Amino acid sequence: MTELSSNGVVAYDVEGGIAWVRFNRPDKRNAMSPTLNRDMMEVLDLLEFRDDVGVLVLSGEGAAFTAGMDLKEYFRETEADGLKGTRKAQRESYGWWRRLRWYQKPTIAMVNGWCFGGGYGPLFACDLAFAAEEAKFGLSEINWGILPGGGATKVATELLPFRKAMYHAMMGENIDGKTAAEWGLVNEALPLATLKDRVTEVAKVLLAKNPVALKATKDAVRRVGVLSYDDAEDYLIRAQEAANSYDNEGRKEGIRQFIDEKSYKPGLGAYDK
Ligand code: ACO
Repeated sequence: MTELSSNGVVAYDVEGGIAWVRFNRPDKRNAMSPTLNRDMMEVLDLLEFRDDVGVLVLSGEGAAFTAGMDLKEYFRETEADGLKGTRKAQRESYGWWRRLRWYQKPTIAMVNGWCFGGGYGPLFACDLAFAAEEAKFGLSEINWGILPGGGATKVATELLPFRKAMYHAMMGENIDGKTAAEWGLVNEALPLATLKDRVTEVAKVLLAKNPVALKATKDAVRRVGVLSYDDAEDYLIRAQEAANSYDNEGRKEGIRQFIDEKSYKPGLGAYDK
């Protein structure tokens, strides 16, 4: 059954371990308003640790994935409130994208249609991305007179080779899903009619994996890119060891003996193993 966020601008269904989360302002091509950004954080919060959610898929209702930031509500109206308004709106949008980048569960962007500018934030935040061949991607900021901010330039340089990133950012031309897959913005492009089936197939593969290992793996892939080889090697050893001891009960026992049993004081010595 479809559920709605507080203001109705995010819709979601949970079915067979998959949370299907959708931008839900189809009449505004799913442009990200401050209200939508707040509602999305609410929904991510709600779903993240639910036992019946193993994978989260993000897509949009109607013809768009998202037409980027809402030029009226996100830019014009928040600017009217001065720097305070702008910074608040930025915190709210960047906040849920960051939350999604480090989400507990594996995430998939299912790009069903238009994907512009600020939409590259959630696109990159998702671990995997599948697009409709019919979808259109664009860094359209240059077309209305700003630079691709909100991380969009960073996403372009993370995912595209230098020349393609520069062309994409400077020219304001759109590319279709097929080109987006060739360029590396998404994993694959498929006809819109088969997109959901393919994403379901991928989600089911992920659902069958060890969830602790998946979280450790997705974080590792994001982390090691900026590390030297030796630092990455060290990080991966620590991350593996942390994952191995994920169910370590010792810490809880230490708290129990201090708080409940009152059998020792951590400030004065160690708990009884
Ligand atoms: N911000 C605010 N409103 C928007 C946005 C947006 N980003 N995108 C669409 N809308 C609104 C339109 O104003 C229109 O509202 P109205 O019905 O009240 O007049 C409604 O959504 C439908 O949009 P149309 O333009 O009529 O839809 P169409 O299907 O013809 O075109 C398209 C779709 C190409 C996506 C077009 O809406 C568009 O160019 N949107 C802006 C895309 C963009 O450049 N976004 C900003 C990226 S930069 C950034 O995010 C920082």
